[in-house]
Amino acid sequence: MTLSRLVLAFAASTLFTGGAFAAELSLVSGSVGKDIEELRGQLDEFEKESGHTVKIVEMPASTTDQFGQYRLWLSAGNEDIDVYRTDVIWAPQLAGSLVDLTEAAKDIVGQHFPSMIESQTVDGKLVALPMYTDAPALYYRTDLLEKYGKEPPKTWSELEATAKEIQDKEREAGNSQMNGFVFQGAPYEGLTCDGLEWVASNGGGQIVAPDGEITINNPKAAAALERAKGWVGTIAPDGVLAYKEEESRGVWQTGNAVFMRNWPYAYALSNGGDSAVAGKFNVVPLPASEGGSSAACLGGWNLAVSKYSKNQEAAIDLVKYLSSEKAQKQRAVNQSRLPTIPSLYDDAEIAEKQPIVTEWKDVVTNAVPRPSAPTKRQYNEVSKEFWTAVNETISGRGSAADNLDQLEKRLRRLKRDAWE
Ligand code: GLC
Repeated sequence: MTLSRLVLAFAASTLFTGGAFAAELSLVSGSVGKDIEELRGQLDEFEKESGHTVKIVEMPASTTDQFGQYRLWLSAGNEDIDVYRTDVIWAPQLAGSLVDLTEAAKDIVGQHFPSMIESQTVDGKLVALPMYTDAPALYYRTDLLEKYGKEPPKTWSELEATAKEIQDKEREAGNSQMNGFVFQGAPYEGLTCDGLEWVASNGGGQIVAPDGEITINNPKAAAALERAKGWVGTIAPDGVLAYKEEESRGVWQTGNAVFMRNWPYAYALSNGGDSAVAGKFNVVPLPASEGGSSAACLGGWNLAVSKYSKNQEAAIDLVKYLSSEKAQKQRAVNQSRLPTIPSLYDDAEIAEKQPIVTEWKDVVTNAVPRPSAPTKRQYNEVSKEFWTAVNETISGRGSAADNLDQLEKRLRRLKRDAWE
């Protein structure tokens, strides 16, 4: 870049006000529920305190769609975005385009769960700071379970039986829209989460083991997927094959599902003024198979500064602000988002307003990570192969055993000698 272009770019993105540089920052973020509204409120506070301004570039809800776009922007050296809201699984793939925050965050990293900082550290470089963590729940209708004398299920068989009975009886009683169970069955990253939970809770492993070994082609994994296939068109609507988080929440929140698998953000929204299920539901950890143990996929979102940002210092301040204890507490109280700061799990106000948050500490700390660390820069391809095999299976295209066999071959071709 010539000196004059540099000066122009600088003038365009910063204003000199009263002795301090006021940067005009752009933050790109996907959203579900009220994410953007909450974020805007926090940015307004940051603007007042810092003198900088921040524009939100809003993206679609699907993490898969966001990743595709961000990878393009970053590989093209896009200077228009300063801060990216990043999914917990992306760190190894985007690390090369992100600023190392190790030095800037050295006084605050100790506040967070060490594993969450570690998940954002790639070859010693801290590429993002955590905003919130995520681990799903089984949402259930307290009124309906009580009406039919049922307990919340601990096993998938119990869930199937209760979902079927209540769905059928409610339909007979004239509630024709009622469904037993809704989840995320669309072919995208969310199905990798649901599928991993089915497989892991049946003792079928984690797709790729932490040491990099491809383990997905096994009878327990196949049995778990065959079981899920049996839900489609029986306790779940056929449409579930195209549901992401928000579609499932839509059915649930209009009162048309007995059970839902979803992340904690749906808790605050389900109790909102416009929700048909406000005060009529509760949450438990996801079921397991007989003899297996409940598995919750570890999710979560972080904030990263682009290497191509012209305002890196201000962008780092923003990232620190949004990952701070104050911002995380607001997000927990207003949106039932899970903090990455352990002390907030003892916070009385959070416990009172959003009990799921404080109750979820064990679920979060025992959550199962997706294999993004062992598969490194190939994670997205690995995940795509997995969610495709799962979607094919539950759509009735091929048996689970055949589809997992194919999947193993594809993953071996991706891996060759070693993941890189
Ligand atoms: C949630 C999780 C995220 C995951 C996504 C899948 O947003 O926090 O980690 O990738 O769901 O849809």
